[in-house]
Amino acid sequence: MKTELKFEALQSLPAELLVVLATDASTSKDKNAVAEPVLLTRDAAVASADKPVLKSGEFTASACETLLFYGPPELKAKRLLIVGVGKSGKVSLTEIRKAAGAAVRFAKPRSIRHVTFVVPEHDGLSLPAAARAAVEGAFVGDFDPDTYKSDRKDRSIEQFTVVAPVSADKKTVEAAFREGVILGESQNFTRALVNEPGNRLTPTVLGQRAAAMCKEQGLPCEVHSTEKIKELKMGAFWAVAQGSDEPPALIVMRYEPKDAPKDGPVLALVGKGITFDTGGISIKPSEGMEKMKYDMAGGAAMIGAMRAIAQLKPKVRVIGIVCSAENMPSGKAYRPGDVAIAMSGKAIEVLNTDAEGRMVLADGLHYAKQLGATHLIDAATLTGACVVALGMVNAGVFANDEASYEHFQKALEISGEKFWRLPVEDEYREMIVSHIGDITNTGGSRYGGAITAAMFLKEFVDETPWLHLDIAGVAWMDEQKPWIAKGPSGVAVRSIVEWVRSYEK
Ligand code: BES
Ligand code: ZN
Ligand code: ZN
Repeated sequence: MKTELKFEALQSLPAELLVVLATDASTSKDKNAVAEPVLLTRDAAVASADKPVLKSGEFTASACETLLFYGPPELKAKRLLIVGVGKSGKVSLTEIRKAAGAAVRFAKPRSIRHVTFVVPEHDGLSLPAAARAAVEGAFVGDFDPDTYKSDRKDRSIEQFTVVAPVSADKKTVEAAFREGVILGESQNFTRALVNEPGNRLTPTVLGQRAAAMCKEQGLPCEVHSTEKIKELKMGAFWAVAQGSDEPPALIVMRYEPKDAPKDGPVLALVGKGITFDTGGISIKPSEGMEKMKYDMAGGAAMIGAMRAIAQLKPKVRVIGIVCSAENMPSGKAYRPGDVAIAMSGKAIEVLNTDAEGRMVLADGLHYAKQLGATHLIDAATLTGACVVALGMVNAGVFANDEASYEHFQKALEISGEKFWRLPVEDEYREMIVSHIGDITNTGGSRYGGAITAAMFLKEFVDETPWLHLDIAGVAWMDEQKPWIAKGPSGVAVRSIVEWVRSYEK
């Protein structure tokens, strides 16, 4: 999808599909009164248009509701699409993203390849932020997961144009728009990786894809395999990897800007990259197992985030680490009862081979510290328990450090992604004490499973400020929405990038 930013009046603007947002102006006081939706543009040509249908009450401008006008006489555009964003008091950047995604997904099945989106003007909305949200939402809407359809027709949007008023401050809108392009493209880059099936995207291939991205963006990257993992004594990572015929990959990406302060922070992004999770010897039920190809979504988020960071160029050092393996049952596989010695020296008693994500992350987090990380963030499709707790709406976030968490909260305000904080407290540690070694890889009971998994990871970060993102419930959309296709969501990329950028300020 090519993108373009214009500062123009709408009347004489040629467009295949001109998109204007509208709010629902009705009040709860008088349910029977018809309130005309309010168009979010001050452009004279659109605002003056006399559209009886808008007065009829048939179109209420609820979120993502659409209304199409063909050949509007007051405009040069071929079609005018009004997209609702809901009640006027609640118009947030999230609504703008969704509306832009919905407009793109309206266009795609109709083979409309050019979309022109009018930046909404609304009290309390900053124009640059709205322009950025629009382009991010458009990228999200443009992605479809049908890569392997033999009769696949490419209906992706060729050109997405954002139009801002002539009076806008061009520099700030342009800068925000550019950020939106980088983040939108990087999120889709991650989604394309997550979408790949396990037979096509092995740990080796994930390593190759990360290396290719790094080469393109000018980032140093190393991809190690079995030999190095053994040499580093990554006994927890290797325990998982040993069961598969596919060799593991330890991916290390670096972003080292020359203008970063020498004594500044070193941020490490550590991702779970299980390219397929069968559960291993503690094998999963076959129903729904096919979805476990997305068990590398945390790792893919880190690769996508590094891509965006390389382009946004914040003045802060970042290391990206992805621990990638395939969790398989075999004659070589690790067993329940096994004891694995992690790189940190801690002895892990394996109670369940399906709790493999925390095994690979244990060594990834320890390695990140060894490489000089001062702040850690990990992302993983770690537990079904997190899905039980938060459903498929919020991802879980855990923190051992208030300042890091505050940085993340600020990042969420910009990214618009939904995370809910869960506790990290010593009382939960009792559940992972081992009798034969130091810790067990599960809490033993189903209760508090997302938290005991976090407590396990905490053993390997010690006092280093750390955030843990459990994205199991939100990395894959089971159903399509008006603004996004069914399939990989690319969640966490935007938040992680903003978290990184917050350390520059
Ligand atoms: N990859 C799964 C977690 C998962 C579940 C991701 C649902 C996406 C959707 C993870 O490796 C796993 O199997 N966790 C176990 C842990 C248990 C054995 C303690 C789980 O959640 O059941
Ligand atoms: Zn598992
Ligand atoms: Zn897993």
